Amino acid sequence: MKQKEFTSRLIHVVGEEGVILNPAEQEFYVNDWLGKAHGRTVAVVRPRNTAEVSAVMRLCHQSQTPVVPQGGNTGMSGGATPDMSGAQVVLSLNRMKRIHEVDPVNNTLTADAGVILAEIQQAARAVDRYFPLSLGAEGSCTIGGNLATNAGGTGVLRYGNTRDLTLGLEVVLPDGRIWNGLRGLRKDNTGYDLKDLFIGSEGSLGIITGVVLKLFAAPAGRVSAWVGAKELTSVVTLLNRLQAACGPRLSAFEMMSESSLALVTRHLDGHFSPLNQAYPYYALIELADTNLNGLQEMLQEALTSAIDDGLIDDCVVAMNEAQSVSMWRLREGISMAQVKAGKAVKHDIALPISSLATFVKEADQIVMNGFPDLPIINFGHIGDGNLHYNVLVPLDISPSLYKETTAELNKRIHDLVTQFNGSISAEHGVGTLRRDELKRYKSSVEMDLMNAIKRAIDPNQIMNPGKLL
Ligand code: FAD
Ligand code: MLT
Ligand code: ZN
Repeated sequence: MKQKEFTSRLIHVVGEEGVILNPAEQEFYVNDWLGKAHGRTVAVVRPRNTAEVSAVMRLCHQSQTPVVPQGGNTGMSGGATPDMSGAQVVLSLNRMKRIHEVDPVNNTLTADAGVILAEIQQAARAVDRYFPLSLGAEGSCTIGGNLATNAGGTGVLRYGNTRDLTLGLEVVLPDGRIWNGLRGLRKDNTGYDLKDLFIGSEGSLGIITGVVLKLFAAPAGRVSAWVGAKELTSVVTLLNRLQAACGPRLSAFEMMSESSLALVTRHLDGHFSPLNQAYPYYALIELADTNLNGLQEMLQEALTSAIDDGLIDDCVVAMNEAQSVSMWRLREGISMAQVKAGKAVKHDIALPISSLATFVKEADQIVMNGFPDLPIINFGHIGDGNLHYNVLVPLDISPSLYKETTAELNKRIHDLVTQFNGSISAEHGVGTLRRDELKRYKSSVEMDLMNAIKRAIDPNQIMNPGKLL
């Protein structure tokens, strides 16, 4: 099919306003926000509903046109960016924004894949319920993108990843057929769990068009605290103590190294620092409950006893929500501050929590021996074992030296991750960023199984080619 005929058939399906052909207007859709992934596209197509997605996919199936699904384009692994061929279609879900049903009795919310995460959280709050997925990009990422990457964020410690928050899915397959699995059931053992195949598949198997999410009882509020410590191992011990003392009330436990926090104060939020003195490590802790009685005292007591025992060095418990918000702004600012400070060679890794401190000691040694001038930016969701172990390189580094440094750092850090039985991709997805490394760290059996699933569902390989696999 000629390009002209293809684009006019696209317009026939979704209307003039649903197809972007002008390269200047395509700019947002063909580059990622980190400035690392760039591409070109034959057209950006923005369907309004599942039937239109299905018709677009039938057309792409017929014409063997590759498709790159895109949500909010906030991903970190280049998964939503087309390649440079100009032959791929970007299928954006950003006009599929309807919340279809919020059911406070079944504790479920049914929505289109293009709904922004913050709007889902808001819709849950409106019926006095809680949707716990929370991440720095929540004002612009979509629930479809969260599902496709199985996003994590700060609530995983208590509520799990996006996968754990999902009951049902609707997916348009590469040939245009619609699988309607929009069921709000907590038990359904009628064969393979198909939704789990599509969650975390990064657009490589089909277009997620709808979702049924789990809702939870709304916490009456939260209590946050900021802790300073000399050693990472003390921070991990504190995590275990709080888990024992506070049980499920412990809703977040984030770690930041001094250098990560310094980036935020230097580049974004120069005025606020919760403690009077600097420490090598900080933790941001949150307790939440449906009953706030005694929550602040519980946290204060646990932290005071940790100070008395010499485990941590200092702490401050937020006295009100405004202070909590200021603390969280520091934590959530690290991603953006990194972008301003340099080019980050990112390592989004998961480790057994018991190995975190030893891993960091060994990884720090590797970086300091091989790259003594490069600052280590180490922070993350250590309550669930997820570190963002990043290394900053200067903005003006030459492209060839950047490539060489990245390859060497990735190999050394990821080899160490594997020695500790960890994962080289915890929450950001594989995309193009980790695709080639995956073969080094996954067994041939795992790779064979993944390739077999890909061939079975997408035999013509039109779904997000070159990503993940
Ligand atoms: P996109 O970036 O558009 O796409 C991501 C991938 O999903 C691509 O492979 C794309 O092809 C595919 N995809 C998107 N929509 C669909 C669909 N409907 N059907 C099929 N495939 C689809 N991530 C975390 O996990 N935890 C964090 O703490 C976190 N913090 C962040 C902080 C900031 C400031 C930023 C900018 C990003 C952060 N991220 C984090 C990364 C990012 O926000 C998540 O990966 C998010 O889930 C991506 O959603 P999106 O809608 O932007 O997806
Ligand atoms: C975060 O947790 O802030 C992001 O996932 C990490 C990053 O930007 O590397
Ligand atoms: Zn993260």
